[in-house]
Amino acid sequence: MATSIAVCSGKGGVGKTSVSVNLALTYRKLGKRVAIFDADFGMANSHILMGINPQHYISDVLNGSKSISEIMCKGPNGVMVISGGTGLLEVLNIDRKHRYEVVRLLDELEDELDILIVDVPAGASDNSVSFVSAADRAVVVLVGEPTSFLDAYSFIKAANLEMGTKDFTIAVNMANNEAEAKKHFERFNAIAMKFLDVRLRYGGHIPHSQRIRASIVNRKPIVTQGSDTPEVLAFQKLAKQVLAAPINTSTGIRFFHHGEWEGL
Ligand SMILES: Nc1ncnc2c1ncn2[C@@H]1O[C@H](COP(=O)(O)OP(=O)(O)OP(=O)(O)O)[C@@H](O)[C@H]1O
Ligand SMILES: [Mg+2]
Repeated sequence: MATSIAVCSGKGGVGKTSVSVNLALTYRKLGKRVAIFDADFGMANSHILMGINPQHYISDVLNGSKSISEIMCKGPNGVMVISGGTGLLEVLNIDRKHRYEVVRLLDELEDELDILIVDVPAGASDNSVSFVSAADRAVVVLVGEPTSFLDAYSFIKAANLEMGTKDFTIAVNMANNEAEAKKHFERFNAIAMKFLDVRLRYGGHIPHSQRIRASIVNRKPIVTQGSDTPEVLAFQKLAKQVLAAPINTSTGIRFFHHGEWEGL
């Protein structure tokens, strides 16, 4: 049975796409069948980090000209990519009906996949909140800056109050070391505990790394380079922690019909 993992942050530019791509490749290394659904409609870029050029996008599925399988594109090590498209302004803000359609269309992948990773757009739009709540597990990418804390908090609050999502795994990105990352998590967790009815878990940290920057520029994900670098080991730890987190039971549409409430 396929499971889904949404990668979100509230704030833009904190590393969601980098985390999505490298998590996907890490699960692939563990023998899982993995696809990335790039839900950043109109501004999708996970394919850029993977060095591939999809020819078709989710808009081709929504307008009925292609099936999901036809638009899937093979990335490094066999990670599949479903692209949200670039420069497609008309699908930037798809409505509830189309979101529902997209989630249901992805059902056709249930037998072909073990893990679907959803790269969720920045902000706390209906799209972002709905895709996170539709996933079994939510990973929130946090960096040690007040703006990231604020936006991650607002996002978690929206997902919790609007859709009842309770469990979130926090991945601290661009950290100097584990101790610093854990401190960021503890501070963030204390704020969330005080005001929200949610459960946050520390998922691990990804080091601030010139090699990660270079891997993005060179379009060769860090996890495909070497096997025991600090970056690769960090993604392995995170991958394990994410799957160890409890499954969310949010209301609304769910990927692969898990715990579905069918109300539209
Ligand atoms: N661990 C890291 N170490 C160093 N630089 C990083 C790291 N993670 C991300 N970056 C830098 O941050 C930039 C943004 O990363 P990424 O595109 O993954 O963020 P994002 O959250 O997906 O952004 P957006 O909100 O625009 O979708 C990258 O281009 C890279 O330069
Ligand atoms: Mg991104």
